[in-house]
Amino acid sequence: MRVGVLTGGGDCPGLNAVIRAVVRKGTFHYEDGFVGFMEGWRGLLEDKTMELDLSSVGGILPRGGTILRTSRTNPAKHDNGLQHCVENLKKHGCEALIAIGGDDTLSVAQKLFSNGVKVVGVPKTIDNDLSGTDFTFGFDTAVNVATSAIDRVHTTAEAHNRVIVVEVMGRDSGWIAAYSGIAGGADVILIPEVPFDIDQVAELIRQRQARGRYFSIVVVAEGAKFADGNEKHSESSSLQPGRDEFGHLRLGGIGSTVAYEIEKRTGFESRSVVLGHIQRGGTPSAFDRVLATRYGLGAIDMVHRGEFGQMAALRGNRIISIPLLEAVASNRKVSQEILDAAIGILDKLDYKVTKVS
Ligand code: F6P
Repeated sequence: MRVGVLTGGGDCPGLNAVIRAVVRKGTFHYEDGFVGFMEGWRGLLEDKTMELDLSSVGGILPRGGTILRTSRTNPAKHDNGLQHCVENLKKHGCEALIAIGGDDTLSVAQKLFSNGVKVVGVPKTIDNDLSGTDFTFGFDTAVNVATSAIDRVHTTAEAHNRVIVVEVMGRDSGWIAAYSGIAGGADVILIPEVPFDIDQVAELIRQRQARGRYFSIVVVAEGAKFADGNEKHSESSSLQPGRDEFGHLRLGGIGSTVAYEIEKRTGFESRSVVLGHIQRGGTPSAFDRVLATRYGLGAIDMVHRGEFGQMAALRGNRIISIPLLEAVASNRKVSQEILDAAIGILDKLDYKVTKVS
């Protein structure tokens, strides 16, 4: 069978491991041939391809990024875009398509499926916010990067009696903030799911000071919101249009605002750091390499079982197949269990303040 493969949306450590697994199992077990569509949906729309075979996937397992490159192109926003995609698949003799991406990429995959394309999805995002799967690959790597950054700012914050705010990615869900905040022992964790009261955050930091803890670490997800504001923080220093083709604002900057507001209220010297794309670049963790490989193997098996309009998903420790519709229906928010873990480790005073917010 000839199978098309593409990677869409923000890149993510482990994309190459998925591509490699798909091509290796497809070649060795099913005698498939592959076409790589370049730069996400743009490649399918504009017919930009590369040959995908055993030699092109050699040595890519530990490499970050994606050999197919990526973009945030949305074919549904282009004239007859979905139709062009269908035609280009036909032109290359593709009987099936594996789309590796997050909710945006997979929502296009679902549209193409409704237009008769035999498509299988693979869940990708460092944000871990796709429904229907316990973990997306890339998340573990991002959490490890953020945790080691939090460890590092801890020692310098303590040395200077400072508050340091660490801004991590997480547009709609605070999974990276919650996990890295717990793993790094942050004193305050601010996530999009729970709008925060900055006065309460400042009070919590004051209480720590009163107990002889002269420094504090705050982890904030880029999509977190002040309780009294309704907009997310977006970057203003950009020459590009503010929104991508899926309508998303370019976020960033909440960390420095939070640091400023804390300093204003407490008088404690505060600093902020933005981890940004450092969380997305570089080599995947061992966990992500294994998970991404299992997703790739699951996806090519699904193609040969004829499970189209479906996505490979992790449930417990098993790779299963779920409808794409279920995956893109809504963002997966940080679970109550993880929220409880984040506040459960705080002492009684901190807990009181955090609980109220
Ligand atoms: O991959 C998802 C994500 O990490 C979001 O958390 C973030 O808002 C977005 O990507 C930023 O990506 P880019 O700068 O590539 O548009």
